[in-house]
Amino acid sequence: MVDNEAVSETVKGPKTGKVDGKEKPMIASEEDFPLPDWVADWAREAPKLVVRAPGPKSKAIIKIDREYVSYAYDRCFTFTFEKASGASVMDADGNVLLDFTSGIGVENAGWTHPRVVKAIQDQAGKLIHSMANDAYFDKEAYFAKLLHEISPGKALKGTFFGNSGGEAVEAAFKLSRYYTKRSEHVAFFGSYHGRVGAGLSLTSKLKLRYSYGPLIPGIVFTPYAYCYRCPFKQTYPECGLWCMDYLEKQVLEMGGPTGPISSIVVEPIQGEGGYVVPPKEFLPGLKRICESQNALLIMDEVQTGFARTGKMFACEHFDVIPDILVMGKALGGGVPLGAIIAKNEIMKKWRPGSHSSTFGGNAITMAAGLAHVQAIVEENLCDRAAKLGNHTTKLLREMMERREIIGDVRGKGLMIGVELVKNQYTKEPHEATTVQGKCWRGGLMTITSGIYGNVFRIAPPLCMSKAQIEKSLEIFEKSLKDEEEFLKIGTSSAPG
Ligand SMILES: Cc1ncc(COP(=O)(O)O)c(C=O)c1O
Repeated sequence: MVDNEAVSETVKGPKTGKVDGKEKPMIASEEDFPLPDWVADWAREAPKLVVRAPGPKSKAIIKIDREYVSYAYDRCFTFTFEKASGASVMDADGNVLLDFTSGIGVENAGWTHPRVVKAIQDQAGKLIHSMANDAYFDKEAYFAKLLHEISPGKALKGTFFGNSGGEAVEAAFKLSRYYTKRSEHVAFFGSYHGRVGAGLSLTSKLKLRYSYGPLIPGIVFTPYAYCYRCPFKQTYPECGLWCMDYLEKQVLEMGGPTGPISSIVVEPIQGEGGYVVPPKEFLPGLKRICESQNALLIMDEVQTGFARTGKMFACEHFDVIPDILVMGKALGGGVPLGAIIAKNEIMKKWRPGSHSSTFGGNAITMAAGLAHVQAIVEENLCDRAAKLGNHTTKLLREMMERREIIGDVRGKGLMIGVELVKNQYTKEPHEATTVQGKCWRGGLMTITSGIYGNVFRIAPPLCMSKAQIEKSLEIFEKSLKDEEEFLKIGTSSAPG
């Protein structure tokens, strides 16, 4: 848990903010987890469906989009954003949906949080571009100080700001090579680290790599501790972590890299891979392997960071401090921002000019990101995510008793994966797209992940109320029930 008092006065912001011209408190009561007062009235009525989506306004937008916007985007539903507040989103035709996505782990404090909005507005009137490569800017300095103060064990320092999670991975990769003077790395099956250069090369999914080879050489992939679908067909804890053994004794000693590795790059909980939570020994084991190899442990917390899992960073659940920590998504609260922070002796090795970016440390992103992370700290969202996460996980586990289509429920805080199967015993994956469509039509925005596309990500904004979570789960269960009826499952059981 972050020690709020440890966050110095310099980087603390106001505890109140203006909504509709009135001063409103930012901190909600912890008893029943209501929505914070700043959430707009229309957003409190979610879900509210006024027209079958896509309505006429949405259709008109989609028509132009389909003609002029790149086909590379993989839109999962015909939703057109009009506005968002708290944990609700509205489309162009006035349909209001509850949100289980946080904009893919971005809007942790809540959509259009007034502190973020105000910070952007104030900053935009003064300075937009701050030339971070060549000049100093107050909010960049304050933000880097805050990130040091909330870093695991306060052990990391010297933030480098870029423009996205993928760019932050690139920076970590370069720093690792620069520091170790080595050029080989270990990454994991099921990993996702972005779509550019190093990030794509460290990403395992064939569909995402397809047609882009050759990628950066020197990366070996090894199984993640995905115990529900163990590639070694083992069972935890009896296995004694074969995956760790395999990495140490097979990959690193017999035909993996051509020499000592520079780093192991890992997500503490896999995001795109299916919200996979490794057993408690996995990350400490990786740390030990890195130490034995004089290699660095790079933890990619782009999706898990900033209170999402009930701690500021997910690595804190496992008592492991990485050598380099990668941040993105919620770091900016909605503006494009990524960063790395590292152990000081590592970061200090980078000489001036070793790495740079025109827009990294940009004035607007610094103002917005600083305001968002301040809100996360001061509104105690780690605690809220932990408590609401426990409640949500309990409800989902009860749902799993009723719904055979659910094979597994796992997670930490409000990062919960629900894995769909055709049968709980055979574990044959059931692709989630049709259930996802039913959820959206029922008023719940959801996204999926997983190597088989069968895992729902339950990742609402951390300000979502307990009542809204329960309502969302009702929509979710109804969609699952419909799907079971369609597939005629729910009466099946163990084979034989
Ligand atoms: C763990 C992880 N790393 C890196 C990235 C890439 O971030 P971006 O899309 O901002 O480049 C993502 C994006 O989903 C991610 O989940």
